[in-house]
Amino acid sequence: MKQLKRIKGTQDILPEKSPQWQALERHIRREMALFNFREIRTPVFEMTEVFARGIGQFTDIVSKEMYTFQDRSRKSLTLKPEMTAPVMRAFIENTLYARTPVHKLYYLAPLFRQENPQAGRLRQFHQYGAEFIGSPAPEADVETILLALHIFEGLGLKNMELRINSVGDPESREPYKALLRDYLSQNIPDPEPVVAERIANNPLRVLDSKDENLQEVIQQAPKLIDHLKESAAAHYHSVKAQLSKAGVGFREDPTLVRGLDYYTHTVFEVTSDALGAQNALCGGGRYDLLARELGDKDFPAVGFAAGMERILMALEAQGIQLAEPEAPDIFMITMGQAAREEMTPWLARLRRAGLSADADFLGRSVKAQFREANRSGARFSLILGEDELEQKFFSVKDMKNSTQENVPFGELTGYLLQKRKD
Ligand code: HAM
Repeated sequence: MKQLKRIKGTQDILPEKSPQWQALERHIRREMALFNFREIRTPVFEMTEVFARGIGQFTDIVSKEMYTFQDRSRKSLTLKPEMTAPVMRAFIENTLYARTPVHKLYYLAPLFRQENPQAGRLRQFHQYGAEFIGSPAPEADVETILLALHIFEGLGLKNMELRINSVGDPESREPYKALLRDYLSQNIPDPEPVVAERIANNPLRVLDSKDENLQEVIQQAPKLIDHLKESAAAHYHSVKAQLSKAGVGFREDPTLVRGLDYYTHTVFEVTSDALGAQNALCGGGRYDLLARELGDKDFPAVGFAAGMERILMALEAQGIQLAEPEAPDIFMITMGQAAREEMTPWLARLRRAGLSADADFLGRSVKAQFREANRSGARFSLILGEDELEQKFFSVKDMKNSTQENVPFGELTGYLLQKRKD
């Protein structure tokens, strides 16, 4: 029969990589707690409308990348391609706003987008992110950006760049969109169908096109930040001033518009030079109008999400290891049938004492057991043969220091717990 394969663009995370993932997850949880963000978990699928209304019909995600299907009752469901819309849906549905006016929420989650797979771009990938809901203040934008940077810096990542921009409020953006649409129509005489569609439906998205032929037109295009109304300009100005005061370096990038429609005011991305074409470690911004799309109330909010695969790639490229490979404390080696019968009870005693322990489960030769003990990376080998059994002791080999000692049964766990600390 044909061997089955995983779905294109998905990954198996194998045991040798899991310690890095776990260490990254621990780091994220610790740093989120430091900023007083609390975890929220939402279902892996949602009604399609949550994303269609939340992210925007004309975005790449909604128009061509979602895993959407009908269940048996013909409801349209979608595997979540991002977390901001589900978090806002959950926030409204569970009336979290009735408890306190401001909520700091974070998540770690697998997400699904049917993109063309390449390095750093998968069809199932993992994000962690933070959503700060309830405050319209520029301080909340700054808090969110500082949190994103704090987590990266704590990992030891280097050579990152923070880019920021403002996409304004609707009062600033709508007249600007018309202006930009006219400019693009005049200056791109014969646009490709995708570009023509964007000029018509979402002209801002043309600005982050990577197409070489469009770069000059994009560089010369009118800039939204020059057309911000007073309050939007003041918000942006305040964010920049606070970042500077906090000693954070950033580059203003008027072409940074992000691929989701819900943004207002501040948008930002952090890129790493350790990555290839897909070099964004995280992206985010303010999204004051999303709540209205999903419910009937307004809740100002700002957040970001970071790609965990990309972070692990950047860490590897920069030679940073978050965790040592995993190994048990003990590998037990038995010689002869009588000793082998003592294996299971001894393993149980060791584990009850908090020592991780393994042994041979294939009835292998002593030589092969020693080889396995070495391969396992165990700190200690415990050898139990006929002499040991008769005189009630173990030969304990310290694999780190290459020393060997005889330890009476009664003293074994205490001895190992003490030695493990060295
Ligand atoms: P996003 O820019 O679509 O934003 O994704 C954020 C990050 O997720 C990216 O910078 C990248 O690191 C990672 N990422 C995205 N797509 C893929 C993929 N196909 N494969 C691997 N990694 C990927 C959002 O998702 C917004 N919800 C962020 C946000 C939160 N805005 C406000 N709050």
